[in-house]
Amino acid sequence: MQLPARFSGRTHVSTQLNLESQGEKVRLAGWIQKRRDHGGLIFIDLRDRCGIIQLVVDPKTPKPFAMAEKLRPEYVIEIEGKVEKRPPGTANPSLKTGEIEVVVDKINLLNTSKTPPFEIEDEIAVEENLRLRYRYLDLRRRQMLANFAARHRIVKATRDYLNQQGFIEVETPILTKSTPEGARDFLVPSRLQPGHFYALPQSPQLFKQLLMVAGFERYYQIARCFRDEDLRADRQPEYTQIDMEMSFVSQEDILNLVEGLMQAIFFSVGLEVKLPFQRLTYKEALDRYGSDKPDLRVPLELVDISGLLKDSRFQVFSQAINSGGVVKGIKVSPQKPFSRKALDELVERAKSWGAKGLVWLAIQSDNQIKSPIAKFLDDGEVNSIISEFKSKPGDFIFLVADQFQLTTNILSQLRLELAKMLDLTSKGFSFLWVVDFPLFHWNEEENHLDSEHHPFTMPKDNQLDLLDSKPLDVSADAFDLVLNGVELGSGTIRIHKRQLQEKILKMLGLSTEEMNEKFGFLLEALEYGAPPHGGIAFGLDRLVMLIQGCQSIREVIAFPKTQSASCLMTKAPDQVEPRQLEELHIAPLEIDS
Ligand code: AMO
Ligand code: AMP
Repeated sequence: MQLPARFSGRTHVSTQLNLESQGEKVRLAGWIQKRRDHGGLIFIDLRDRCGIIQLVVDPKTPKPFAMAEKLRPEYVIEIEGKVEKRPPGTANPSLKTGEIEVVVDKINLLNTSKTPPFEIEDEIAVEENLRLRYRYLDLRRRQMLANFAARHRIVKATRDYLNQQGFIEVETPILTKSTPEGARDFLVPSRLQPGHFYALPQSPQLFKQLLMVAGFERYYQIARCFRDEDLRADRQPEYTQIDMEMSFVSQEDILNLVEGLMQAIFFSVGLEVKLPFQRLTYKEALDRYGSDKPDLRVPLELVDISGLLKDSRFQVFSQAINSGGVVKGIKVSPQKPFSRKALDELVERAKSWGAKGLVWLAIQSDNQIKSPIAKFLDDGEVNSIISEFKSKPGDFIFLVADQFQLTTNILSQLRLELAKMLDLTSKGFSFLWVVDFPLFHWNEEENHLDSEHHPFTMPKDNQLDLLDSKPLDVSADAFDLVLNGVELGSGTIRIHKRQLQEKILKMLGLSTEEMNEKFGFLLEALEYGAPPHGGIAFGLDRLVMLIQGCQSIREVIAFPKTQSASCLMTKAPDQVEPRQLEELHIAPLEIDS
């Protein structure tokens, strides 16, 4: 990545210099990466944003030499010198500037540095908390800079592409009213209106819909969103969405547009994406992979053998099936057989995911099996299992029996675990659209319907008459984009008529007063010529994480929060003065510490 040629003090950045610059007088600035004393000469690796260049200081120039002797890692200097070709045999092919060096005749020390708590190197083995505590040093590392340069290019490619497609970028409020996306709200107390609170947006969902009512037709925003939820590697309390909304569109239009966007984004970082993306319905995804965000780089599929085992003597199976459940499994063909210990560990893993047990079958020659339940299976059952899984000697089959949801959930985790153990995940990027999500799911704990996406999602046109009789059977114009098993984005066609919107909110358990209080402004807007519309939003952080091959979105967020949602550098969240709480009309509760 280059910098523009010059600010006043500097003639070049490191990587602008090469063999053709020989003999040029240059002024450079940067940080000391390393200093080495060698046979009377002092060598300094000078680092700037673009790269590293070697400086040489000769004792024959006593003033800069005396200064060079004092320099330590991370000191900031400005130098003047002459570019020279390195002596034969001393070139460094791993550096872009490896064929040259700058012979220094003046050093100006701009600032000193304490010894950093960790080395500023690409590979460092330090605890993440220490990196976060000194994030500004961590960000000096090349890999981190590369992540942010990629992030920058991705945002630019997004803007360029959407601008070309006639979208306009609009900012929506941060101090706002709750937008339900399934997480808790972050609240901000109002000083001017005692007892009232703003909510930070979980997404710009309602505002982007209102922009469609306003007639903007195509909107996007690189939008900051806030969600108070349990954090993990791909979740932060504040994160960024590529958010968009369109009027007069079909689901097909949105999918096509997004595929083009992804292609443009990947192209901007030198990667190729093949179109169209694969598609699965929600039901197919669960049946075949056990998950609504399957990683299709893993070549394992679930097989349903419920039909074979209804009358099995092994009651775990027959009872599960006869009480409405299923028996499903996965087959793998390992290079060498699993040890008994590895199998026992897999059973324990499955139990830790909530399974009651995990049956394994080791397929031998002549349709024989080894299995803890071998004695309960007759030859006919064994033969039909082997044939259903298309297995051959040396294969292992793992079976789970339970209700559909639990069974698929466990097998989807087992699928990934086996892929890891046997190194089955292929390289590259695997995009997948999951379509035809159900409109609702049943919230067991609270005993009511919940939206699968959000309450503004349009049921499929031809299923509206099922809303009253079989709401859980209604599917929606709702779609997720999955990349390598990570949910990258989520979109839907929206409800654009008040009557249907009210009906759905009512089905979700809201009284007329509640819906007016929470969403009155939206319901009202739907009565003023709201056009049919739909949209989607992507997790930008997740996208950059996957493109850069990082394990966590914290690697692509400049100043991220920890698992407990704190910033180790600034120490946010922090206590505040009693006077500030008073102004906000908040009385602190005594908290035991
Ligand atoms: P959804 O809630 O699925 O949809 O969010 C869209 C995408 O945002 C990313 N994401 C997150 N990334 C990091 N940290 C988080 N805590 C986090 N939560 C979500 C995911 C997700 O797919 N308004 C709808 C979109 C729409 O219907 O247009 C919405 O927000 O990648
Ligand atoms: P048990 O009857 O609990 O001793 O289990 C006998 C075998 O069946 C063990 O190998 C268990 O791991 C397995 N098992 C028990 N319950 C299930 C289940 N729901 N699905 C798959 N395997 C199970």
